[in-house]
Amino acid sequence: MKVEGSNAIVTGASAGIGRATATMLAERGANSILAADIDESGLSETCALIEKAGATAIAKKTDVTSTPDLAALYAEAAKRVSRLDIVFNNAGIVSGPPPFPDTPYDRVKRLVDINLTSVIISSQMAVEQMKDRGGVIINTASTGGLTPYLADAPYAASKAAVIMFSRSCADLKTMYNIRVNAVCPGVTETPILEKLGGGQRPDWLQPLMENIQVLQPENIASAVVGLIEDEEKFGEYVVVENKPLGPNGKG
Ligand SMILES: NC(=O)c1ccc[n+]([C@@H]2O[C@H](COP(=O)([O-])OP(=O)(O)OC[C@H]3O[C@@H](n4cnc5c(N)ncnc54)[C@H](O)[C@@H]3O)[C@@H](O)[C@H]2O)c1
Repeated sequence: MKVEGSNAIVTGASAGIGRATATMLAERGANSILAADIDESGLSETCALIEKAGATAIAKKTDVTSTPDLAALYAEAAKRVSRLDIVFNNAGIVSGPPPFPDTPYDRVKRLVDINLTSVIISSQMAVEQMKDRGGVIINTASTGGLTPYLADAPYAASKAAVIMFSRSCADLKTMYNIRVNAVCPGVTETPILEKLGGGQRPDWLQPLMENIQVLQPENIASAVVGLIEDEEKFGEYVVVENKPLGPNGKG
């Protein structure tokens, strides 16, 4: 599918990967972008970037764990754009300290609600709106969903489930011409890195970051655009990995 002239929903659009992707879609000629997030001030900053890049920005405060909020987001899309082409289910959180198995039970439930349940329900609503004309749904997973990770086992489990959910949707291509894929970022320079340590970067992160090429949000946005454009991709996951740094400290 061409990004040019398309209409998209991006969740988790107030910062990081969501903001970079919403902006890149606008730069590539998207028509309208519904930017959804729980953080309203971040949303206005993202919408300014979208508008600057030449697309129409529609800010919609949305808690993706709320089914009424998600329904209102899709109702807004139905009202404001002629057809919905792209949905990027990207909002996500980490557990933060203390590490698993001491994660508070409520935090585990909220994490699974945001990272997994909302992705499934938002995809259901997207299919409802796209099924007459087709479309593309991309879900943000993580390399953390491919490798066991005790310190945030709930996060790893939620992201592994997003990969399997996206793979399980492969036949929506045959049924409705809707392509569902997942993107799996490695460590990416976004505000989530502070959230890993509950407000500051955890001690274990720095030595790791010194040995890898840390990704930028735009690297993930490019992968998302690639998944939108590549008609052969459905029911797949694409890994955007951190390459090791070379001996000179460069890639
Ligand atoms: N940055 C990384 O290293 C990395 C690596 C792998 C995967 N990811 C995934 O990428 C996605 C984007 O993360 P990011 O790195 O840009 O982090 P981020 O913290 O910068 O952005 C996440 C956004 O999600 C929003 N959000 C959180 N809870 C929400 C809710 N209930 N409803 C609506 N919005 C909500 C936040 O307000 C924030 O704007 C997440 O799913 C994350 O798990 C990030």
